[in-house]
Amino acid sequence: MGLNTLPRTITLHDGRNLELRLLEVADCLGLVEFYRTLPEQDRQVLKDDVTTKEWADRFLRKVATKEVLCLVAMDGDKVVGEGSLYRSMYGWTKHVGEIRLTTARSHRRQGLGLAMASTLVKLATDLGIEKIIVSMVENQLGTRHTFEKLGFQKEAVLPRHVKDISGIKRDLIIMANDVSQIWAAMEAMVQDYSPHQGE
Ligand SMILES: CC(C)(COP(=O)(O)OP(=O)(O)OC[C@H]1O[C@@H](n2cnc3c(N)ncnc32)[C@H](O)[C@@H]1OP(=O)(O)O)[C@@H](O)C(=O)NCCC(=O)NCCS
Repeated sequence: MGLNTLPRTITLHDGRNLELRLLEVADCLGLVEFYRTLPEQDRQVLKDDVTTKEWADRFLRKVATKEVLCLVAMDGDKVVGEGSLYRSMYGWTKHVGEIRLTTARSHRRQGLGLAMASTLVKLATDLGIEKIIVSMVENQLGTRHTFEKLGFQKEAVLPRHVKDISGIKRDLIIMANDVSQIWAAMEAMVQDYSPHQGE
């Protein structure tokens, strides 16, 4: 599942085949389009306003400096999932990475999120990252479930830290995974839960 296995084809639970690969500069507009088609409710839980060309330009600069490693899921020529590993290249949290992940509503509950998350965890370990965190709002059940399956555990709660679409303040939950210890266990879980691998 590391870099040398990308691009690769995965088969979702419903039989659709998608390609997982690293983001290319030419995907920029497709990525913005993907985010623009997400319901506002989903975009509200993302850290950035991901619908603008300015965001995409900033994001691509981070990809170029390798501060962000970005994985996309392609259904034909359409982006249907984006998962990124953010890391700081210097300083005392150099060993820590953060995963942010979004899949298209049309492709959810089909194993895509889990396949992307587990690939990002593997890429992180290949890069020497020892700890991965994921931030989520308290009611993001899908995110919580996906990362729990990969061995992530709740590590911190920041009370009333984010405002949701209705202006209600909600707790931010930070889940973490010490990858150096549990990668082996995760691999066993992924075999049970990830979609079939195609050629
Ligand atoms: C979180 C997210 C990426 C999951 O993607 P997905 O493609 O649905 O993931 P999967 O199909 O691989 O599901 C993984 C597991 O979580 C479960 N799950 C997914 N959504 C769920 C939900 N809303 N409620 C309960 N369980 C859910 C799935 O059933 C699956 O478990 P299973 O194998 O036991 O059935 C997707 O819901 C999403 O993009 N959410 C909006 C953006 C977001 O919140 N991102 C997180 C910020 S890091």
